[in-house]
Amino acid sequence: MNADKLVLLSGIKPTGEIHIGNYFGAIKQFVELLNDDSHQGFVFIADYHALNFIQDAAEMKRLTRNLARTYIACGLDPERVVLFKQSDVSAHTELAWIFDTITTMPYLMRAHAFKDAEAKNKEIVVGTFNYPMLMAADILLYNASVVPVGQDQKQHIEYARDTAEKFNRIFGETFRLPEPHILLDVAVVPGIDGRKMSKSYENTIPLFASRDEITEAVMGIVTDSSGDRPENVYAIHRLIKTDEELASLYEEHKGKYKALKEALIEDLDTFIAPMRERFEALTTDAEIDEILHKGGALARERAEAKMDEVRRAIGVR
Ligand code: TYM
Repeated sequence: MNADKLVLLSGIKPTGEIHIGNYFGAIKQFVELLNDDSHQGFVFIADYHALNFIQDAAEMKRLTRNLARTYIACGLDPERVVLFKQSDVSAHTELAWIFDTITTMPYLMRAHAFKDAEAKNKEIVVGTFNYPMLMAADILLYNASVVPVGQDQKQHIEYARDTAEKFNRIFGETFRLPEPHILLDVAVVPGIDGRKMSKSYENTIPLFASRDEITEAVMGIVTDSSGDRPENVYAIHRLIKTDEELASLYEEHKGKYKALKEALIEDLDTFIAPMRERFEALTTDAEIDEILHKGGALARERAEAKMDEVRRAIGVR
């Protein structure tokens, strides 16, 4: 591992099928940045974050291995990037506790996820309330500088920055402030109903969708636009084709929503097929487990070095 390079870190919760919103919003960015070798990469499976939602051991295992396969199918090379499970590095939860002791309730009550749950009168679990502190620990443990994510994670990165500043102020310079890496164009990838693509809205196009699943999703795109161009179709189409490439197609098929949807199905299938094939062909469970096991050991080494500094700074060592 090269200690001089800037650290890039990102993670995903294993809570369901990965969709093209995850891909274009985050995965594509970090795979590209990591493959040009300019950064040292830590990419992880946020299984303790997912535990707020997935409380079934067999399902947790299945989703975790699938997410590891997803990363690899999307082009991450586990030989060059530290690919690991959050739960394999206990420093994440330890540091989250330390952050809890310098964080106030009103500050956490400003988090979007908490406010949304409150607005819907939902009973929120403590794990969801504390979510931003665990995420701050994820990022700060590795001195991450670059954190590629979608727009919905921006506030969480601000929490990590604020928490680093507060810790540094109280205990002395310890943490580096991370920067979000959010591409404006794909910051919020829309789903088939025009809202943000999200598992919880059931409006996704799965990243490894079969041809039939692609057809079903695209035919379900809501097209109530008043103009000639079905905006919800176009918004997804422009993820895989440039505006110039799409201009003549949309001009030629002005007002013909079915033909435009058929063109999108074709283009999505061409784009997804190679990744889907890689995903399906990928390594056995045992091999995936071995990759995560190795990644866990490397991540632990790095995280423990940071925890040493932290424990000294707070006076427990
Ligand atoms: P998660 O698992 O919900 O989503 C994973 C990544 O996908 C991005 N994303 C989107 N981007 C654009 N448009 C969309 N419709 C869309 N839907 C999802 C998310 O912004 C995210 O980048 N809290 C994080 C996981 C996490 C993490 C971290 C990320 C835990 N610790 C440390 C970075 C660093 C989450 O729930 O993402």
